[in-house]
Amino acid sequence: MKYIIGNWKMNKTAGEIVEFTRGLKKYKFPKDKDIIFGLAVPYVYLLGMSKLQVRFWIGAQNVSEHSHGAYTGEISAEMLADVGLDFCIVGHSERRTLYHESDAIVNEKLKQLQEYDMLPILCIGETLEEFEAGKTHDVLSRQIREALKGLDLKKEMIVAYEPVWAIGTGKSATAENIKESVSFIKSEIKKVGADYPVLYGGSVNPANASEILHIDCVDGALIGGASLDPDRYVQIASALYSN
Ligand code: PGA
Repeated sequence: MKYIIGNWKMNKTAGEIVEFTRGLKKYKFPKDKDIIFGLAVPYVYLLGMSKLQVRFWIGAQNVSEHSHGAYTGEISAEMLADVGLDFCIVGHSERRTLYHESDAIVNEKLKQLQEYDMLPILCIGETLEEFEAGKTHDVLSRQIREALKGLDLKKEMIVAYEPVWAIGTGKSATAENIKESVSFIKSEIKKVGADYPVLYGGSVNPANASEILHIDCVDGALIGGASLDPDRYVQIASALYSN
């Protein structure tokens, strides 16, 4: 199975979403069951996405670590499951950095999602400083161990390797870096007794998609900026079925 998942972050208005879906309709997506197309959209548009008849997986970009109660502004895993979403991103580096989400909070969020059988896409990745200091393996290993503590490892999960220095910078990691880190992540996941697909994210664009998506251990891409434009999204997806 391969995954092409867009993460819109805090972008788009309702009108722009209509434009986006209109743009997508020009393309014939292969009915290949081995490729999943998905979009993580802002909360307020989640319900409307199904009305637009985009036959994509639709997911949220975040979830509360609490189950319910007096947490003004938060959205629970139960609510996400209630509106029939397909997945939820957890631990994106922007959440970890800008909103101070620790490994422990990421772990609580994953527990909430598991309770409602919602598929998580767990983001992990090292900062530039950690990369330059040769600490990539230590960081990835800690993030995996802490995130998965106390979880039901038989339930499905997707992991996305997103080196922080490659996100939104236009400078993706090299194929060699990606292969090395994704193989390492897969071996760490196996060590704790789980087996999850691993995507790559960080400046994926139509020019580098083919090289990245053809790395044998990479199960797909998590795409930020380039997923905002239907043509670029489709060009990236097309890289999966071209040589
Ligand atoms: P980017 O973002 O593709 O714009 O680098 C990736 C992400 O944050 O998931």
